[in-house]
Amino acid sequence: MIPSPCYVLNEKDFRKNLTLIRSVQEEAGIQIILAFKAFALWSVFPIVKEYITHSTASSLYEARLAVEEMGNKAHTYAPAYSAKEFDEIAKLSSHITFNSISQFIKFYDKAKEQNISCGLRVNPEFSEVSTDLYNPCAMGSRLGVTAHQISQKLPEGLEGLHFHTLCESNSYDLEKTLHIVEQKFGHLFPNIKWLNMGGGHLLTHKDYDTQHLITVLKQFKAKYPHLHLILEPGSAFAWQTGDLHSTVLDIVDNGGIKTAMLDVSFACHMPDCLEMPYKPTIRNAYEATKGKPTYRMGGNSCLSGDFYGDWSFDKELKVGDTIIFEDMLHYTTVKTTMFNGVTHPSIALLTKDNEIKLLREFGYEDYKSRMG
Ligand SMILES: Cc1ncc(COP(=O)(O)O)c(C=O)c1O
Repeated sequence: MIPSPCYVLNEKDFRKNLTLIRSVQEEAGIQIILAFKAFALWSVFPIVKEYITHSTASSLYEARLAVEEMGNKAHTYAPAYSAKEFDEIAKLSSHITFNSISQFIKFYDKAKEQNISCGLRVNPEFSEVSTDLYNPCAMGSRLGVTAHQISQKLPEGLEGLHFHTLCESNSYDLEKTLHIVEQKFGHLFPNIKWLNMGGGHLLTHKDYDTQHLITVLKQFKAKYPHLHLILEPGSAFAWQTGDLHSTVLDIVDNGGIKTAMLDVSFACHMPDCLEMPYKPTIRNAYEATKGKPTYRMGGNSCLSGDFYGDWSFDKELKVGDTIIFEDMLHYTTVKTTMFNGVTHPSIALLTKDNEIKLLREFGYEDYKSRMG
């Protein structure tokens, strides 16, 4: 029995993604690591570890999770490190990418003491991502060093470069980006050991041309055989692997606009729907259609904009009906809040034997403990 509300991760679909990701890694001869920022359900890391060994961390806590639950030091990149946290981050990381030369200079001695492989994030000033919120190369971006900020040589001690410019992108976007990275930063390649191509590679999407990706990576490797290539996708791991189950608590009508009031919130539990924004798929519902029962879905926070619409259904909705938001595993559980004290959805695994295993329930203490 699935409780409501609840995120449900489907093990079979998850393993399908992991299998594909591992096969790309092996065929292309590169390393693919999991970006925790998109997916960090550590109780299923034993499954992840059957396929992928390493992860990328964007903070001290993610780095600690890498060591504690993946059993390996993290490839860490954060927009800025604080002196207070850096020592611990260094102990938990094998690679640390700096966002600026000044941060590298500030922390290099400490990183060296821990035998960290240091890298620099570069900004190729080219991205196919059209939503500025998700575009690291938007005008004035704070993320990464542009080509004109680096002289002919990298400072002593930097042995890797990192770029992240993609978001739910395909291999053709990567190919274009790689050409530009090569034009702008290729002169630095002879003196580095690794190149991290960031995330945003949606290689588990049904239309993703993985063979083309493998070809692009192999060609690149043939040109620069000394470079260890790393991809750090997040979404691709959890893409289409599970849903958010919710329940209709009430139905309100204002001037003919009907809203199904749910026990979940877009603001708290599906934030990208409002931020990107995008309209999620609801199982057994479709685009608003004249003549069909049509509803907005209303979130249970007091934020006026905590709703999305409209969907049509074959039958009128009623209190107690289940509403299933599909593909709600990436960038959800890692981003949820308890704004308004709303109940956080439980997290469950639908095992390969079709059993529901409850991984986590949340209660009042989870809310209270963050407030004091
Ligand atoms: C530096 C970096 N690496 C990896 C990722 C993961 O990207 P995605 O989940 O789109 O694959 C992100 C996402 O923002 C990122 O900023």
